[in-house]
Amino acid sequence: MITTTADLATRAAAVLPGGVTHAARTYSPSIYVARSQGSHKWLVDGRDLIDYTMGHGALLLGHAHPAVVDAVSRQVARGTHYGAAHPLEVEWAERICALVDSVDEVRFTQSGTEAAMLGLRVARAATGRDVIVKLDGHFHGWSDAVSVNLDHGVPRPATGVPEAELLTTAVVPAGDIDALRDALDGGSVAAVIFEGSGAHFGHDPLPDGYAQALRAECDRAGTLLIIDEVVTGFRVATGGMQSLLGIRPDLTLFGKVMAGGLPGGALGGRRELMELLASTIEHPGTFNANPLTAAAGIATLTLCADGRPQATASACAERLEAGWNEVLHRRGIHGRVWRLASIVHLELADPAAQAALGVRLREEGVDLLHTSAFCSAVHTEADVTATVAALDRVLSASVT
Ligand SMILES: Cc1ncc(COP(=O)(O)O)c(C=O)c1O
Repeated sequence: MITTTADLATRAAAVLPGGVTHAARTYSPSIYVARSQGSHKWLVDGRDLIDYTMGHGALLLGHAHPAVVDAVSRQVARGTHYGAAHPLEVEWAERICALVDSVDEVRFTQSGTEAAMLGLRVARAATGRDVIVKLDGHFHGWSDAVSVNLDHGVPRPATGVPEAELLTTAVVPAGDIDALRDALDGGSVAAVIFEGSGAHFGHDPLPDGYAQALRAECDRAGTLLIIDEVVTGFRVATGGMQSLLGIRPDLTLFGKVMAGGLPGGALGGRRELMELLASTIEHPGTFNANPLTAAAGIATLTLCADGRPQATASACAERLEAGWNEVLHRRGIHGRVWRLASIVHLELADPAAQAALGVRLREEGVDLLHTSAFCSAVHTEADVTATVAALDRVLSASVT
């Protein structure tokens, strides 16, 4: 079977909507990855990219980390689904509870999207209220309840989501505590759900003190606070974004890093809330806590427990942030570079240059997630030097 990039793109266009399986992977020109290792991925055409998509943020330890490969390889031969409880799910849950202060118990799901769905289910069951409040622009996966944002100040469901969703999902501007207070007045809100990092993993940070005020307002209104740590959990700190903010949410959504690069997620939280899953709330799911993901998750969390991989990844991000900033400054280009722990954001003031940035950097051997870089614990000094040089070449060629 021919596997050139052009052939794959033609075949994909015939059988996959848009030729892809995730909108964020819509690249023009297309690329197809043949294999990945450490901080790099190699394309079917032989090119080598320094990878900062890192599995949409799931791979804090880089691609094919030996400990994860070993754990998954050993497990696959022992079975991938027992249709029954197994020791790995117990150890995986224990590790999460040990690392995140607010989490007494966890229930595993198959993705971050499902963790959010379950969090809302538990909050509604616990409070007997139907309405949830989300912050504009904050992302919690693609389920109907959270696929609502403000459009010129008016809440709008995403395409294909019923208008009726607006009866039970309210949206407030991110960072506006007065709007939030108004939304919670009347006592009908089961939960506020938010990304502690601000929208898009720290791209749009929340004002200082906002998360703490959110906690206080929820307490006042008898509303539960759900923090989405799908991206930030075990990455920005071992205890997650909540440990950096110094808040104690009622429920936490996990995904990505905790599943070690395999599909998975979890809801965690206070015991009395989570115990509803043992009594009144139904939550099936064929692949909940599947042994393969559990093996990858345990291997990853074991290595991440002392905070060293997070510190290494953040140090890499700090060098990248400084290097990219130096390039912008030296070339007199308007833009900004900033970061949250190991996640670096890059924004050029010129919209055309910004739109072309991802493609141009890819031509220079660097793959970002949109225009953000997820650093891992295995990106090297040489990777960072090459990534800074790549931006320098891109900007020397195309931007004034
Ligand atoms: C903050 C946040 N929450 C939830 C999700 C959904 O997770 P999943 O893609 O595993 O369904 C994502 C995915 O990128 C996310 O970034």
